[in-house]
Amino acid sequence: MSFDPRSIPVDPSATAALARNGLEYRLLDPADQPAMRAWAEAETRGFHHPRPREIDLDHDVAVAGERRVHGVYDRTAAHPEVPVATVDGWPTGLSVPGGRSVDAWAVSAVTVSPTHRRRGIARALMEGELANARNAGAALAMLTATEATIYGRYGYAPAARAATITVDRRRTHWIGPDAPGRVHFVDPTSLREVAPGIARRAVARTPGEIDRWPGIIDRALGLVNPDGDRARALRTVRYDDEHGQPQGFASFRVTREPDEPGVLEFDFLSAATDDAERALWRFLVEQDFVTAVRGRLRSVDEPLPWLLEDPRAVTISDVGDHLWVRVLDPVDALSARRYGLPGSLELRVADPLGHARGRFRLTVDDRGRAEVERLDEGAAAASGPSLQLGVQELGAVYLGGVRPSVLSRAGRIVETAPRSLAFADRLFEAERTPHLSIWF
Ligand SMILES: CC(C)(COP(=O)(O)OP(=O)(O)OC[C@H]1O[C@@H](n2cnc3c(N)ncnc32)[C@H](O)[C@@H]1OP(=O)(O)O)[C@@H](O)C(=O)NCCC(=O)NCCS
Repeated sequence: MSFDPRSIPVDPSATAALARNGLEYRLLDPADQPAMRAWAEAETRGFHHPRPREIDLDHDVAVAGERRVHGVYDRTAAHPEVPVATVDGWPTGLSVPGGRSVDAWAVSAVTVSPTHRRRGIARALMEGELANARNAGAALAMLTATEATIYGRYGYAPAARAATITVDRRRTHWIGPDAPGRVHFVDPTSLREVAPGIARRAVARTPGEIDRWPGIIDRALGLVNPDGDRARALRTVRYDDEHGQPQGFASFRVTREPDEPGVLEFDFLSAATDDAERALWRFLVEQDFVTAVRGRLRSVDEPLPWLLEDPRAVTISDVGDHLWVRVLDPVDALSARRYGLPGSLELRVADPLGHARGRFRLTVDDRGRAEVERLDEGAAAASGPSLQLGVQELGAVYLGGVRPSVLSRAGRIVETAPRSLAFADRLFEAERTPHLSIWF
């Protein structure tokens, strides 16, 4: 989807809902710098972050300038130029099983000022984003959530998990293969040239990852505020394969007390190949003068324990729902991914907000490609496998992160023909556990 996300008309329902509360729903013009800066400050406050430095604010405004940014304004507030609620959204790809990408709409920066909470502002914004997503032609909307109780009511469900991986350095003895290439320390500025390409290939091979925007790469490499303490603590490495081609990178820091061994922490390890993934993990876990290595937002299914003599050196914690998906167009969403086996499945989808409601038939060929058709409500019942489910359950199983039979055991999916669940479990299976390694 390459178009200007600001070209979509402003959602009249959100405008009307907020106007009933005496509030104005406004689409911001990125050229209006004072408004954009006030919006970015309000968003920072909404997430309880410290007041941003000028350099960080410049970055936030530049990133938001590429998106569709809405603010909600209260003319009677002490500072009416500061929005009482914020949200932004943008069209972007989501990697799906089979190595393709589906057109999606990312939603972020959802905040409502504590002075204006619990009067329906978030609901107006969230429904407005679903309208924007549909108008943009997105098959689904997606977000990451601060709390797991907020977004189910709009049809979102957890679809890809992430976890913290901690490795006990003293028990690290590598038994995996030696990488054919090399890890180099490189300065972040030079890494900036190759990192987007590596990240693009890493995203493509992992269902649940979303396309990276340039600003997040700069943040990963400490280039937003290079003189800040956090950026100065970062070290950056690149893995080049046996032909000298860059295939992976990581940024990490070691935190330590004087004269004590430290803890190596990293948020970004991006690998376009298995060799790169192994080599970067090995580099990180074999550091001397550290007691532990900790990676955040890693896959719940890392190969790391299989690369160490002592798999108990690896602890997986903070396993969380991370990527939330809200299907809007089941035909486009379901036909974008690949499936585990050939056959046909009918889905009857309920959706209180209407977007994804209906009956759909997937017919999967022996290469895993699906043709998806919308059926008439009154069409004869399917003779083959069929399931009844809500839009949240559809989002949860979409990337293969949870089996339909587990949701059936939870009473959330109903099998309407014999053996449909066993078939659907194998159908929706992904070749790689879905995973999202960033916040957005
Ligand atoms: C989460 C937040 C945006 C909600 O804003 P709000 O305007 O108060 O929400 P609304 O009044 O529109 O409430 C809509 C519904 O969500 C519920 N809800 C709102 N916040 C909730 C929360 N934190 N936990 C559980 N339910 C919540 C409301 O009870 C209401 O339920 P209902 O539809 O069943 O009546 C706001 O509390 C906030 O800014 N929090 C801090 C920043 C944050 O966490 N943002 C989320 C980023 S992922």
